[in-house]
Amino acid sequence: LQRIDISGLTGSSTVLVGETIARLVDYAPADRTIVITDHKVEALYGRRFPPSPTIVIGSGEAAKNLDTVRHIYQRLLALEADRSSFVVAVGGGVVCDTVGFAASTFLRGIGCGFVASTLLAQVDASVGGKNGVNLDGYKNMVGVFNQPRFVICDLELLDTLPPEEVRCGLAEIVKHAAIADAALFRFLENHSAEVLALEPAVMERLVADSVRTKAAIVNRDEREAGERRKLNFGHTVGHALEKSGGLRHGEAVSRGMVAAAALSVKMGLLERGAADRLTALLQRLELPTGVWHAPQNILEALKHDKKREGDQLHFVLLESIGRAVIERVPIRAVEQFFTSR
Ligand SMILES: NC(=O)c1ccc[n+]([C@@H]2O[C@H](COP(=O)([O-])OP(=O)(O)OC[C@H]3O[C@@H](n4cnc5c(N)ncnc54)[C@H](O)[C@@H]3O)[C@@H](O)[C@H]2O)c1
Repeated sequence: LQRIDISGLTGSSTVLVGETIARLVDYAPADRTIVITDHKVEALYGRRFPPSPTIVIGSGEAAKNLDTVRHIYQRLLALEADRSSFVVAVGGGVVCDTVGFAASTFLRGIGCGFVASTLLAQVDASVGGKNGVNLDGYKNMVGVFNQPRFVICDLELLDTLPPEEVRCGLAEIVKHAAIADAALFRFLENHSAEVLALEPAVMERLVADSVRTKAAIVNRDEREAGERRKLNFGHTVGHALEKSGGLRHGEAVSRGMVAAAALSVKMGLLERGAADRLTALLQRLELPTGVWHAPQNILEALKHDKKREGDQLHFVLLESIGRAVIERVPIRAVEQFFTSR
């Protein structure tokens, strides 16, 4: 079991990597806890939940909206929840984001904790205090910063996760290693077979180190004024690919990281060998690395990027494996880069 403390402006949180849902009672007040989960996780793991009232919501991105939040509020009212109630979200990023938002706003905020059940939720979504839902198709438009009191990363729950969901989590782990942890990057290179087999000891290290990296960055820049933007490595092109190509988030981020590394080489910041290592690692983890199809679609989407400032884009680039920098890159240069390939 590894404990990682996060202390932010909006409170502090403890991430427990290797803890299990069976021991939830040690962290949440038994008589005041209400569990909220999605129907898939309830079907798989409902038997392991504590004997608390349970609210079940829909699964997947389509459920991450204000209708679901309203449903949660109504069920909380029906259960006569009050300020002393404590909500535990059990699920992936969708459940954690939605429940975190509902708990932060119900009665102006009641206590909550998370049991993260997907690799992505364990290494990314449940760390950092961002909670929120989508609005009319726009991602994360309504939300708050608030830290859950604890996050349990139960590695046993990963056994039932579909391979494509595992890969989405792995993409974010590679991202954390690439921007801030060269040792983790080497570990991934040396243990890719064990990673794909979800070997428990290997997974514990991956999740814990990844959480530590994200937590350290978030602790230094909770409100995303500067350094936290490094966590967007691979996401600028990734989001553009997601919009134009209907790719899964993790697959798009994987391709986006390859593009950002290539741009880093082109701008003279990164050695080609380092970019090749990134591509090779992603391929060994069965993540896609091709980015050069439909450049016009990518460029069109980049022009509408939220992080665009005039004719420049904030790009997270690499100086080496384990060191990222944020650079303003003229859209024209990005355009040339994509069309010259
Ligand atoms: N708050 C943040 O900082 C942050 C960061 C990254 C991502 N996110 C958000 O996280 C969401 C994506 O999270 P996700 O990838 O976990 O998606 P998800 O919550 O939709 O889970 C993916 C699928 O796996 C199922 N599932 C969950 N646990 C399972 C298990 N143990 N075994 C089998 N199936 C299981 C779910 O029912 C769902 O169908 C997005 O909405 C994204 O915006 C938030």
